[in-house]
Amino acid sequence: MRRKLAAGNWKMNGLNEALAEMQKLAESHADSTTEILLCPPATLLSRAANTLGDTAIILGGQDCHAVKNGAHTGDISADMLADAGAKWVIVGHSERREDHDEHNEDVRAKANAAWEAGLGAIICLGESLAQREAANTLDIIAGQLAGSIPDNATAENLVIAYEPIWAIGTGKVPTLAQIGEVHDFIRARMERRFGAGVGRGIRILYGGSVKPDNATEIFSVPNVDGALVGGASLKAADFSQIIDALEAG
Ligand code: PGA
Repeated sequence: MRRKLAAGNWKMNGLNEALAEMQKLAESHADSTTEILLCPPATLLSRAANTLGDTAIILGGQDCHAVKNGAHTGDISADMLADAGAKWVIVGHSERREDHDEHNEDVRAKANAAWEAGLGAIICLGESLAQREAANTLDIIAGQLAGSIPDNATAENLVIAYEPIWAIGTGKVPTLAQIGEVHDFIRARMERRFGAGVGRGIRILYGGSVKPDNATEIFSVPNVDGALVGGASLKAADFSQIIDALEAG
């Protein structure tokens, strides 16, 4: 059975006072059976690790560099994230692909770097609105899966997040049938590429405008193993309801 995963992506949000929100979340989900992951900005990681201690909440980074260390001003390596207390790192988020011109091969290299550092990689992919309207969604997803995921993926080191770009931060959500179609497609591709055992074990998250009021129906879709949540993960009260919906589903 795949363990459900609720992952919060804080993006470029979070100052010292946000640690109190993490604390609240940890207190209300002390006995969670769902895996709960927060990815705050890198500046907060080690403070967050101190705040959370051995609570049920684990931490992740939002991006890492593809190499271990060296002359890359402003960048952060996977080893540094692990050193600061991270267990996972998000790679290939559409905001990184767009704002930093990252392509599938960059994402693949970052996922490899994450694995070398002992981190799990949450590899993000998803189509633009133009691609969906041109009925190219599954081709785009197929290309991103083939190009972004390294060959040595396992059910333990990889999570895939399907995030349609047009649904991120917009309040627009695909229909349940559209979500189901893409998640089933990803599952089939993973089984074909990595074999049924690994392919069935890899968790596939949905991301893009997941909120307390739509979480239950999204989690009812087969092959949706959790969510990658942006805006609604910033407030403990909202994220908490999403975690509860996942746990109840
Ligand atoms: P959103 O972001 O929940 O604010 O739409 C999701 C994401 O970008 O991971």
